[in-house]
Amino acid sequence: MIGLIQRILIDHIEEAYGEETLAAIRQRAGLETLGRRIDTDYADADTLALFAAAGEHLGLDHEAMMTRYADLFIRWTRVHYPMFFSLAESARAFLGRQPRIHATLGAGLHDETLKARVNDKFRVVDEDEATLTVEYRSDNGLCSLYRALFLRVLEEYGETGEIIEARCRHRGDECCRFVMHFETAPARSPVSAGAGVLLEAELKKVPVTREARE
Ligand code: HEM
Repeated sequence: MIGLIQRILIDHIEEAYGEETLAAIRQRAGLETLGRRIDTDYADADTLALFAAAGEHLGLDHEAMMTRYADLFIRWTRVHYPMFFSLAESARAFLGRQPRIHATLGAGLHDETLKARVNDKFRVVDEDEATLTVEYRSDNGLCSLYRALFLRVLEEYGETGEIIEARCRHRGDECCRFVMHFETAPARSPVSAGAGVLLEAELKKVPVTREARE
């Protein structure tokens, strides 16, 4: 998984709990090193092991870990990728753009297989003014992260809404399907082509590479 995901967790553990705790979590995860380069693709298994070990060490169950992480993630991305937020005037608009945000980040990958892996995970399958339906396909099974981020994005925009997971890989379905309802009417603000080009240009400055040791 692109290193941005684990970087945010690693930095948080180090800052909030110190280097010893970080080392203990790394050991518990069975990892020799911790990669936090946002331009590198790390093994999914390592990222998942890190989340599990962090939750166990900090006494957080999986859902609580994802809620904590969603908060860290939104704070971090707000600072480092402010344009993603300024381009979307509502939670509905932001979440509708999320698959494209991922695809834009995946565009930094040189390996076509990896690029497709990132691109193919999320798809908007239905939308109108107040609802959005997104499908998520990934062996990582991080629908809990999606749900936590949905709630945190609502909070960020000062909106209310609900998410129903109509299908879920953990229940044996072929994919996870999130049906989201937004109670605050979204202020529609289509992104101008110019802004999209600018955004892509910014991101392409950071090519993403496969970690050397893999
Ligand atoms: C500024 C906004 C965002 C950025 C920069 C961002 C970036 C990323 C990146 C780089 C990954 C790793 C992708 C990979 O290696 O395959 C990722 C994974 C993920 N993101 Fe986002 N994301 C954003 C917003 C969101 C939002 C709003 C949601 C959900 C509501 C979301 C849900 C997820 C999930 C569930 C994964 C795990 C995918 C998997 O490997 O199965 N992201 N994100």
